[in-house]
This record gives sequence, structure tokens and C-alpha cells, in this order.
Amino acid sequence: MDLPMFYNEEEEWKKVMLMYDSALKEVNTKLEILNEEFKLNHQYNPIEHITSRMKSPQSIAKKLRHNGRELTVENIVKYVNDVAGIRIICSFTSDIYRIADLIAKQSDVQVLKVKDYIMFPKPNGYTSYHMIISVPIYLSNTMINVKAEIQIRTIAMDFWASLEHKIYYKFEGNAPERIRKELKECADIVSFLDHKMLTLNEEIKLYNHEDELEQYKEILSENFQSMMRESYGTIVEDDNEETDIHEIKETVKLETVEAIYQTAVYKEEPLEIQSEPNNTNKAETGKKKEDKKPDGKHAKFFRLR
Ligand code: GTP
Ligand code: MG
Repeated sequence: MDLPMFYNEEEEWKKVMLMYDSALKEVNTKLEILNEEFKLNHQYNPIEHITSRMKSPQSIAKKLRHNGRELTVENIVKYVNDVAGIRIICSFTSDIYRIADLIAKQSDVQVLKVKDYIMFPKPNGYTSYHMIISVPIYLSNTMINVKAEIQIRTIAMDFWASLEHKIYYKFEGNAPERIRKELKECADIVSFLDHKMLTLNEEIKLYNHEDELEQYKEILSENFQSMMRESYGTIVEDDNEETDIHEIKETVKLETVEAIYQTAVYKEEPLEIQSEPNNTNKAETGKKKEDKKPDGKHAKFFRLR
């Protein structure tokens, strides 16, 4: 009788571990997608790196024992929230909340519990943002919601936590007062550093924005010039006057690129480009051409509404 029981439990254990492993994969994929999308839209990487781990059988057993519970699969599923654990390391505190929000907003993710040790640091100085979530895992004939623990913190917070963890184990939770005091001081420095780095980064972003405008200006100018090149081609064919075309090119380029900017960049409105004669240029340089075009043909210019 013993052997089949043992066999069944092992099977059950394997099944449960497969569930948690699948949850890790699901969450990791979600995070990768969010990170890639963010990089694409903002040319910036909110996630420095991600680590994930499955809790070892020994640690699971220790945790249940610590809480006075029997080591059964049912108890693991019910009481151990961090069998599947994911740690997200960000550069800035603002990224932590951004990532947490993006995870929580996903319709198939259920947030079961949140502990914000950044707003409310632990007395020892520990800071981090913790979420217990559940994600659906689809098997051949059923769907199961599986729990995972997500810890989100900055590089500096992570640095502190690893040292504290080492010290905790070294002294089995009873570190000398002086060391605990110094660790707390380090935590304050971490908090100061994170704040300082965030402020500095916000400042740098302003410069980046200006760079982006410059790049955008260049792209618009190039696009515009290639559009204009086509138009000039039409004029040259129609009128056969290359010298005038150069004059037009200069005037139109400067004025219209400026107009595209005003609309697309500064006012942040969608670009609308239409194909019709440019009145401004007509006034200055196009008049002569119109006189020469009794058939009413216009050169193709592009201007904004
Ligand atoms: P467990 O600590 O997992 O039993 O559950 P809990 O209800 O106390 O959860 P909590 O969110 O407080 O902590 C979960 C995990 O965060 C821990 O397993 C650690 O990995 C980490 N953690 C919490 N507190 C500390 C701390 O003081 N120092 C360090 N280094 N890590 C901590
Ligand atoms: Mg704890």
C-alpha cells in the first residue's frame, strides 16, 4: 500500500511543480513583452533585469514547518505564496510603480495581495514592492489559476537586500546591534540615492526631449525633401526650368518644414498633408510659372492645412 501512495504523491508533486513552472513562464513572457514594447515607444528600458526561481522542496518544507503546518501538496498550494518567484530590478523607483501597474492592469492577472515596503519600509530598512498574483494556466482539459510572488525593486534596493540577507543568515537572525544600525544607515543612503538618481533622470529627460525634436526635425526634413524632389521632377518636366525650381525648393523647404514642426511636434496634432499648390510660394515664386501655364496645371506642392 505504501508504494502506490508514495507514487501518487510524487505524481501530484510533479503536477504542482509543473503548474508553478508554467506560471513563471507566463509572467516572464508578460514582462518581456511589456519591456520590449516600452523600449519601442520610449527608447528606454524600464526593467534592468529579471530573475525567477522555483522554491526548493527543502525551503517549501521549512516554511510550512515554520508555520506549524503539515507538508502536503494541499498546504503548499494554499499557504506557500512564493513557490514561483519573480524578481524585477528597475533603475528608478518610478519604474517600479509603472511596472506594477502594467501587470495589475492585465485582465487575466489577479492581484491577490500587495505589500509596498517602499512607502512603508520594514524597521530593518528593507524596501521593495511585493505582489502576489495569480495567472491562468491552460492544460489539455482544464484551466488553473496559479499563484506567483513578484518582487519589484531598484538596483540599489536589491544591493541592500542581498547584503542584509547574507548578514541575516550569517548571524541566524541575531546580528549585533552595531551591524543592524549600520545596515539601517545604508538603507537610508539607498533611499537617498534612489531619490537623487530619479530627480537627475527626470532632468536628463528634458535634454533627451530636445534631442528627439532635433531628430524628428531631421527626419521630417528628409521626408519632405524627398517628396519635394518628386514634385520638382514634375515641374521640370512640365516647365523645363531648372533654375526657378531651385529657388522654389529653398523657400518651400524652410517654410513648410517649420510648419510641419509646429503642428506635429509642438502642438502634438496629427500631420495632415495635402497635395495642392502652396499659396505662399505661389505668391513669391510661382506666379511666373502660372503665367506660363495657360492650361491651369499646377506644380505639385505639399502643404499643411
Ligand atoms: P515570507 O517572508 O515569504 O514568509 O512571507 P511574508 O508574508 O513575510 O512576505 P513578505 O512579502 O514580507 O516577504 C516575502 C519575501 O520578501 C521574502 O521571502 C524575502 O525574499 C523578501 N523579504 C522580506 N523581508 C525581507 C528583509 O527584511 N530582508 C530581505 N533581504 N528580504 C526580505
Ligand atoms: Mg517575510
